[in-house]
Amino acid sequence: MKIKLLAVAIGIAIYGTATILHAEGNARAGKDKAASCNSCHGDNGNSVAPNFPKLAQQHASYLVKQLRAFKEGARKDPMMSAMALPLSDGDMADIGAYYAAQKISANSMPTLPPPPDEDEDEQPAAPAGKPKSVPELIAQGSDLYRNGDLQREVSACIACHGPFGEGNQPAAFPALHSQHADYLIKTLTDFKSGARGNTPENMMHMIAKKMTDEEIRAVAYAISMMK
Ligand code: HEC
Ligand code: HEC
Repeated sequence: MKIKLLAVAIGIAIYGTATILHAEGNARAGKDKAASCNSCHGDNGNSVAPNFPKLAQQHASYLVKQLRAFKEGARKDPMMSAMALPLSDGDMADIGAYYAAQKISANSMPTLPPPPDEDEDEQPAAPAGKPKSVPELIAQGSDLYRNGDLQREVSACIACHGPFGEGNQPAAFPALHSQHADYLIKTLTDFKSGARGNTPENMMHMIAKKMTDEEIRAVAYAISMMK
């Protein structure tokens, strides 16, 4: 009787693990399925072009959630919507497991965009004041990341994205560290405008809409240098 119970218990344990493994996807199968993604997201999910997000070391839970959103139209991008359309739930889980197991590459120092063209002088010059340097922006961004801005009700990013930008796998809060600054600026601006927003609570829209463009650039620069 005891042995029989034990056998059942082991059976349940093995069955349980098997379902969990299945739900988590198979990284080996994911590597093959991700072959068509490499042209934009790079080998091992480390894209070279700064407007294509790196996927390496990202939480599988978050990757699957985004792929589903692209497929269902809750998140829109002309390139990604087409890429996600043919993927099954199993494909997404495998691809998620594959990228989650890769190591993200570090970035070099961000560079400021060139100042706006001054050939045409229809526009009055920007209000006086020297534009902030990259190190100044990184310092400002790190402070915002850790402490938020109480007065303007910008929540501290650290609360959800972690002290090292590592995110939170069970909650599907994305890892941010070493992501391309250009992509971070683009996607935060999309959250701000409402162009991106596929969480029911719309947390990131509520946060980003209170941020200035300078704060978005500052926090993006800081995050891009986090390892
Ligand atoms: C032609 C280029 C291109 C190809 C090919 C491509 N992607 Fe993308 N992908 C993008 C772009 C651009 C974005 C950012 C979209 C945005 O700004 O919202 C993106 C975003 C994503 C995101 C969201 C990342 C994040 O941090 O939120 C995931 C996940 C993703 N792609 C997975 C894939 C997978 C899996 C494949 C292959 C099946 C693939 N992509 C193929 C261009 C591409
Ligand atoms: C209350 C929790 C919470 C806080 C605080 C928070 N975030 Fe997020 N963030 C999220 C969630 C959830 C998502 C994923 C949204 C989705 O699924 O589209 C996200 C997504 C993002 C993304 C997109 C990542 C990608 O790969 O596309 C960026 C960038 C980001 N957050 C930056 C920030 C910054 C900067 C702050 C602080 C100013 C911040 N977040 C504060 C919960 C939070």
